[in-house]
Amino acid sequence: MSVSQPSLTVEQQFFDVIKDRRSVRSYDPEVKISREQINEILQQATLAPSSANLQPWRFLVIDSPELKQKLLPIAYNQQQVIEASAVIAVLGDRETYKLAEKIYGMAVDAGHMDAETAKSFVERYQGIFKSMPPENIRRIVSIDGGLVSMQLMLVARAKGYDTVPMAGYDEAKFVEAFHISERYAPVMLIAIGKAAKPGHPTVRLPIEDVTFYNEMPKA
Ligand SMILES: Cc1cc2nc3c(=O)[nH]c(=O)nc-3n(C[C@H](O)[C@H](O)[C@H](O)COP(=O)(O)O)c2cc1C
Repeated sequence: MSVSQPSLTVEQQFFDVIKDRRSVRSYDPEVKISREQINEILQQATLAPSSANLQPWRFLVIDSPELKQKLLPIAYNQQQVIEASAVIAVLGDRETYKLAEKIYGMAVDAGHMDAETAKSFVERYQGIFKSMPPENIRRIVSIDGGLVSMQLMLVARAKGYDTVPMAGYDEAKFVEAFHISERYAPVMLIAIGKAAKPGHPTVRLPIEDVTFYNEMPKA
């Protein structure tokens, strides 16, 4: 008689995904993730929350070998850029309010909200975003871009892929080389593929060093 293994609880599975994600810097160059799979990963990543649900994230998926080669020196010759299956540039759309009507119209069609409420949200958010100082918009799209990036990396891990987030690139050269207009603010690059070597183990500060209840230390 065989003894069946107890199945992992949802919490254990989720914790395994979080724990097993490592920044991987060495990839199997033979492994190509299909665009269909990339789209699925991105679709699940975009279940992340965003400010006013305006979803300012945009993804430039760089999977052509020539373009990865072009990116290499811009990313200070980090080898993962060419070895990984793709590099996903996460960008923030500074004019995402232009999609407010579409987003809230979809919510109406899905039965989540009535048309009057949707209209008032759209007018409010368009007003707020249009008059917002550029640095505030940059902040918002960077926060939302960070949230979707984290979710992307966890979804990828859950599907057996590896990632590394990268801020180590020349932003000015990147926007020029990839013809990124002023409308889109680079948030980070994420290499995605199948690990050839596992990421280095890393440590985290004890929770007492980073957590304070009700009051922050003076200095
Ligand atoms: C915003 C951001 C930028 C990063 N940039 C780079 C990078 O350019 N190159 C790199 O190899 N790792 C980069 N990393 C990965 C970090 O070094 C890594 O997350 C950290 O050492 C913890 O390791 P872990 O991700 O394996 O847990 C970056 C991480 C973050 C969050």
